[in-house]
Amino acid sequence: MNTAKPFKLIDRFNRHVDYVRLSVTDRCDFQCVYCMTDDMTFVHRSKVLTLEEMGQIAAAFVELGVSKIRLTGGEPLIRSNVMSLVEHIGQLSGLKELTLTSNASQLQKYAMALKAAGVKRINISLDSLDGERFHQITRTGRLEQVLSGIDAAIAAGFERIKLNTVILKGRNDDEILDLTRFAMEKGLDICFIEEMPLGAINEHSRSLSFFSSDEVKAVLDSAFTLQETAVQTNGPSRYYDVLGTKNRVGFISPHSHNFCSSCNRVRVTAEGRLLLCLGNEYSVDLRQVVREFPHDKKRLQQAIIDAMDLKPERHHFDVEDDGVQIVRFMNMTGG
Ligand code: 5AD
Ligand code: SF4
Repeated sequence: MNTAKPFKLIDRFNRHVDYVRLSVTDRCDFQCVYCMTDDMTFVHRSKVLTLEEMGQIAAAFVELGVSKIRLTGGEPLIRSNVMSLVEHIGQLSGLKELTLTSNASQLQKYAMALKAAGVKRINISLDSLDGERFHQITRTGRLEQVLSGIDAAIAAGFERIKLNTVILKGRNDDEILDLTRFAMEKGLDICFIEEMPLGAINEHSRSLSFFSSDEVKAVLDSAFTLQETAVQTNGPSRYYDVLGTKNRVGFISPHSHNFCSSCNRVRVTAEGRLLLCLGNEYSVDLRQVVREFPHDKKRLQQAIIDAMDLKPERHHFDVEDDGVQIVRFMNMTGG
């Protein structure tokens, strides 16, 4: 689309969508208890977009004015040949920011290449600094490997590295200060996430394990001085500077704080479903478009433009009971 005026994706509520989260695979080498069951079935490979199809979809979005793409999963770095996609997206003109969400298990191998391909920032999941606990929460993860991955990312020199921590009551709420100190020592930001009711799990009760961002903040206030920042993310996170450090602490609180009115993002699943909202099922099948009309860029872009009308005004999460509203798991949704 070579129009003189830059194109913008605008939805019915006048929100400008300029951020896409693209799930590279629904698979992961970990099975975190809040994210997956221990007997997950994954999407059949024939239904997963090829890396080339993902590249086409990313390019279509960028031509429509999207300036930020985050690669997520599952664990994006376990997809074979993933660097070919990262390199392709990193070169799209018009894209201002390419970021990645990872569990860090493969970062020793990939950190340098990711930086060279243009990835600016990385979010890394880390819920515990105790090896045994870490293994329990991730079911398969090895803490040592993840810590080495974090060090590799630091050495590669990304603009910003942020730890993402899901706090579960009775499980890791006693590590809030230790995790924060670890982040400060390493020069990283840390963001505490409230567990979201995505996918039916039976490992724990989501209502019993719910630990609110306000509770996390109260723990932090006992040891640090947090100062609210002016940083606006258009997303669910709120950030604070930690006095005396260069780092920030953030909170993602889908339950307690509503952020839908400034939502600027959509998601594409590994199967090519364009999801208009994390908390709803509104979606459009982009895989069908790229497979039925290969390389028909106009048609793909029109499908994306039309999809904007489906973006709902807001989501509703509810943890009062353990009824699961959203059947999709996070690994299907792409963070
Ligand atoms: N609720 C909150 N966070 C979740 N994540 C995965 N599943 C859930 C859930 N149900 C988090 C991971 C990771 C990020 C991509 O999403 O911890 O940091
Ligand atoms: Fe994998 Fe992240 Fe899900 Fe854990 S939360 S199972 S690391 S995708």
